[in-house]
Amino acid sequence: MSFASDVRRGLGRRPRRLPPHWFYDELGSRLFDAICLLPWYRITRAERRLLVRAARAMSKGAAGPALVAELGPGNGEKLALLLAGLGGSRRVLLADISREALSAATARLAKGGFADVAALRGSYEKGLARIARERPRRGAALVLFLGSNLGNFEPARASRFLRDVRSALRPGDGFLLGADLVKPEKDLLLAYDDPLGVTAAFNRNVLARMNRELGADFDLSSFAHRAVWNAREARVEMYLVSRRAQRVRIPGARLHVPFRRGESIFTEASYKYDSAELLARVEAEGFCARHCFEDGPAGYALTFYEAVELRRR
Ligand code: AVJ
Repeated sequence: MSFASDVRRGLGRRPRRLPPHWFYDELGSRLFDAICLLPWYRITRAERRLLVRAARAMSKGAAGPALVAELGPGNGEKLALLLAGLGGSRRVLLADISREALSAATARLAKGGFADVAALRGSYEKGLARIARERPRRGAALVLFLGSNLGNFEPARASRFLRDVRSALRPGDGFLLGADLVKPEKDLLLAYDDPLGVTAAFNRNVLARMNRELGADFDLSSFAHRAVWNAREARVEMYLVSRRAQRVRIPGARLHVPFRRGESIFTEASYKYDSAELLARVEAEGFCARHCFEDGPAGYALTFYEAVELRRR
C-alpha cells in the first residue's frame, strides 16, 4: 500500500485513522530513536538487557541458527547485540517497510562486522516469504520480532501474523518475540505522552510527512497529541486531535478533509499483554516456549519459542 492510498483510505472516512508504519520516515525514525532514550519509555532498554540473557541461553548447546531474520529491525542495534552474543557467523535478513530503518540497520550491522546481510524493503509478509525461500538448506532459522512491534496489531491480525511466521518456519526453527506487558496506567501514559514532548513530535510528524510528501497543508500546531489507555482492549491509543474546525487539503491523496473541533485521527494502537496469556496464544499457533525472560520493573517479556510440528486444526 502506498502512503497516498493509505492516507486517502484512512482520512477519507470516519473515524479517521492512519496506519502507524507511516511514522517512520527519516525524521520519524530518529524521533523514535529518541523515544527509546526517554526514561519513561522503558521497552528498548529492558529488551536490550533481556537480549543479552537470551543470546547466552541460545548459544548454549547446538550450533545456532544458520539464518537470523528480523522483521522491523529499526536501527539494528538490538540485532547487532544479539548477533554478537550468539557468536559465530550467519546469514542475516532484514525486512522493513521503512527505507531509513533498513539503511540504519544495515550500517549498524556492517559496523559490527556482520557482512552477510540482505535487506528487503517491504511488508512482513514479503519478509517471511523470503525467509522461507532463501534459507540455507542446512541449519535452523531464527526469526526476531522485537520491541513489542506485535502491539500494533489488532488481536485477530496478531494471530494471523503468528500463523504466518509459523508457516514460514520448519520444526526446530526459532522465534524470538518481545512484548510489553500491562502495567499501571500512569506508567503507560508517561511512556506515550512524555514530559519532553518527544512522542508528541513523533505523532505530529506524520502530519508533517503528509505536508512534505503529499503537498498537504496541515497546520501542525492545531493538532494536539493525545494518549489514552483503553483498559477494555488492553491498549494505549494515540490520537491527533483537531483543536478547531478546519479543512485540510491533501492533493497527493486527492483529498479534502474537514475536521470538526475535537475530531481526532487515530494514529496508533499499542497493545499490552499478559505474559502467560500471550505465551498460550503463540503456542496455539504451533510453537513451544523454550526460554522466557522477563523484566519485572519495566514490565517487559522476551520469549524464545521453537516451531513444533503443526497439528491439523
Ligand atoms: C515501535 C510500535 C513498539 O508502540 O511502543 C512509541 C511505537 N509509539 N511511542 C510502541 C511508539 C509511541 C512503538 N512500537
